Amino acid sequence: MIKKCLFPAAGYGTRFLPATKATPKEMLPVLTKPLIQYGVEEAVQAGIPTMAIITGRGKRAIEDHFDISYELEHQIKGTSKEHLLDQIRSLIDTCTFSYTRQVEMKGLGHAILTGETLIGNEPFAVILADDLCDGNVLEQMKNLFNKYRCSIVAIEEIPQQDTNKYGVIAGKQIEEDVYMVHTMVEKPAPEEAPSNLAIIGRYILTPDIFDILRETKPGKGGEIQITDALMTQAQRGMVLAYKFKGKRFDCGSVDGFVEATNYFYNLEKEKQ
Ligand code: G1P
Repeated sequence: MIKKCLFPAAGYGTRFLPATKATPKEMLPVLTKPLIQYGVEEAVQAGIPTMAIITGRGKRAIEDHFDISYELEHQIKGTSKEHLLDQIRSLIDTCTFSYTRQVEMKGLGHAILTGETLIGNEPFAVILADDLCDGNVLEQMKNLFNKYRCSIVAIEEIPQQDTNKYGVIAGKQIEEDVYMVHTMVEKPAPEEAPSNLAIIGRYILTPDIFDILRETKPGKGGEIQITDALMTQAQRGMVLAYKFKGKRFDCGSVDGFVEATNYFYNLEKEKQ
């Protein structure tokens, strides 16, 4: 059973400066909801109620967002705006949120290892909130985990010239949209990439990943990479890559952010 979802959220978000100078990038809104709230909703949709959030300096707004604001509640009570808080109130009611700080930024692998104290010895999910997904990707991965019981990364096909922005896998297809990983490289140059199947920000990890991360040396960019740790796990046992159904937006880039905004805006308009 997967009960916990880890959110690495300590990064600086330099691509969005100056917006991210005093505001965590996870709090940037697509329409009226911050990115991290979409992630939490996706976890809840997958039946995962416990959120473990890796924060850092300057990230207090995330904790405040998933808490009651008594002053605001008092102001808004009985007004026509009250319904705007319905979704966030229900998340606060149904989920628990725990936090730990990543003191030094040593990469995604290091951020995930920092979360060990919140996760313990059980399989868990990871959401990178700046990959915004529509289509309950985590739920699809959880169903796959129930069948195979190993670590799983979500993948999508990308243009070959973009391989240097992602972890890239190669593997043997074992069923429709599912690959057994044999190679995994962090941000390879297009001419060196083993395929155009890129890892996106959704993972299910078995807890042995923590011991592997502890012994993983800094890789690309001098950072401890989850991709390298997963490659070790694939060599020792099995890691799957899953081509998910749905849409994903790279909200870590301005282009992706604008695309996501337009997409969700149009969805809202269709509902009206
Ligand atoms: C991280 C991972 C990379 C993955 C990407 C997905 O990179 O290191 O393997 O493909 O997330 O968004 P980042 O985007 O943090 O540089």
